[in-house]
Amino acid sequence: MSDAMHPAIAGAQPSQRAEKRPEAPLFEGAYQDRFEKILTRYPDKRAALLPVLHLAQEVRGWVSPQTIRRVGELLDLTPAYVRSVASFYTMFNLRPVGKYLIQVCVGIGCDLCRAEEVAEKFLELTRTRIGETSEDGKYTVIEVECLGACAFPTVVQVNDKVYENVKAEEVEGLLKELD
Ligand code: FES
Repeated sequence: MSDAMHPAIAGAQPSQRAEKRPEAPLFEGAYQDRFEKILTRYPDKRAALLPVLHLAQEVRGWVSPQTIRRVGELLDLTPAYVRSVASFYTMFNLRPVGKYLIQVCVGIGCDLCRAEEVAEKFLELTRTRIGETSEDGKYTVIEVECLGACAFPTVVQVNDKVYENVKAEEVEGLLKELD
């Protein structure tokens, strides 16, 4: 098992931090600067919806109904429109997630290398079911279709960190590493 942000997906995945601040303002300080910088890339601020949603999720950990409303206000979009876009893409969390969002790739490349066993081991050890958050609020395990590092199955992403060549028997050690 190795851990890295694979070059193929670095920057493509939304940032998922261990620290979640669901009530944090959108946006202030360094995040205000980043928000304004995003807007400069588009002739019409409404076109900045996806990167702004990513930024909002980075701040708050998930895209709540309040976040949808606020992003709509900032970009002159209706909440219904923002919600429709956010719900189309699987990388946006429409429910709160645990401190560690564990994404196990079950795409064809990883599936052929027993990704299901890896996913099952995570579920067993975190005592959760797919998409549920553990009682202590630490873990949410989800299955995803491809993390863009197919040559290194099974691929697992925990928040911002990518683990390659993960075997079921290594899952326990990986979880201990997080604590
Ligand atoms: S199929 Fe697993 S990373 Fe692509």
